[in-house]
Amino acid sequence: MDTIKILKGDIAFTKSPDEVTTYKNGYLVIKDKKILGIYETIPESFQKISIDDYTDQLIIPGFVDLHVHAPQLDQVGLGLDKELMDWLDVYTFKLESRFQDMDYAKEVYNRFVDQLANNGTTRSCIFATIHKESTQLLFERLKEKGLGAYVGKVNMDANGAKYLQESTKESIEDTREIILKYSNDPLVKPIITPRFAPNCTRALLKALGQLANQHNVPVQSHLSENKKEIQWVKKLFPEATSYGDVYNHYGLFGQTPTLMAHGIYLEEEELKLLEKQDVTIVHCPDSNMNIASGMMPARRYLDRGIKIGLGSDVGGGHLLSMSQTIVRAIQNSKMLQTLTGEKALTMSEAFYMATKGGGKFFGKVGSFETGYTFDGLIIDDEKWTKERLTIEERLNRFIYVGDDRNIIIRYINGVDINLK
Ligand code: GUN
Ligand code: FE
Repeated sequence: MDTIKILKGDIAFTKSPDEVTTYKNGYLVIKDKKILGIYETIPESFQKISIDDYTDQLIIPGFVDLHVHAPQLDQVGLGLDKELMDWLDVYTFKLESRFQDMDYAKEVYNRFVDQLANNGTTRSCIFATIHKESTQLLFERLKEKGLGAYVGKVNMDANGAKYLQESTKESIEDTREIILKYSNDPLVKPIITPRFAPNCTRALLKALGQLANQHNVPVQSHLSENKKEIQWVKKLFPEATSYGDVYNHYGLFGQTPTLMAHGIYLEEEELKLLEKQDVTIVHCPDSNMNIASGMMPARRYLDRGIKIGLGSDVGGGHLLSMSQTIVRAIQNSKMLQTLTGEKALTMSEAFYMATKGGGKFFGKVGSFETGYTFDGLIIDDEKWTKERLTIEERLNRFIYVGDDRNIIIRYINGVDINLK
């Protein structure tokens, strides 16, 4: 028999970046984990089904974090007086080298997964470290918790540190092993994760491109985050026409679904290539401010129709909260507006990026339109707001000043993960 679930509450979601769609105490009907429809009264045929009653509480789509580094959880707030290269050398690489220790990794990854869920992040694209064993711990923990994710064992065989680098052969073999082991999991899947071009030899990039294409596995990496980084890429890969072209040359730029974090200083030719290859840019405003990378012109990219999602980029970013990442994206766009006159992002645009925009990477995820997989959060906001504000105003307020304490239930793939 089909399983039908009905939720009642104040529903808010975005079909497009332009507007928030709301229903006052509407009935959200879910059939086999997918949205069947939203109704103002319960249709006759569903009258006998019991209702999860969240009257006057908000029901919104779960958040999607398209770029986050799980091992960097304990680095948040540290070393942020440095820029990217020094931050990596002095803090990050040392910290990540500890993930060969399984006890340490388990303790950190358990906390990471719990905090991700607490913050209402139902789907995420995660960098682990180069270590095959502890990366698998992260897969297992996410599966146990019931979260949806792409998890990447990081690849780096060049310009790392003596304590954080692998051989080319080991990097390829370990990546293949993880792909074969996890590709068929319904919710937690592998993603090919060259750390960034400077940390990879040509041989490794070539092999990773082949693996991605052979096994039809998506790709994630960093692109054009920091001016010194870009100069370094030009020096290391003089044959490439742009930073993005390095990845493209090796089949790691849209040949399979691809995420590129940051993309702050993209050149016009590079943007055209990115558009042609349908690569998704992940805007990480909190990180871009913390390590002084720059201001990403999200408005310009959105208006061109480029796919954009949002990323916390913990530990460059210091918050796992995607609602705070939305706020940072809007604030960043307002600073740009004062400098360039470009229109700032609206709440509905930024909320869209953190739900349906990013959710596209997972299929039909991030909206409550018919056919979408049901990932949702129940938000209990303050009583006075229920009495005096519209649903859209309450959503805005929750995004700006709400936190994990307001999120009382988390559904992922139709399942309340607390009841799992
Ligand atoms: N570029 C290469 N590695 C990293 C990382 O760990 N964080 C950020 N923000 N950028 C990177
Ligand atoms: Fe990053």
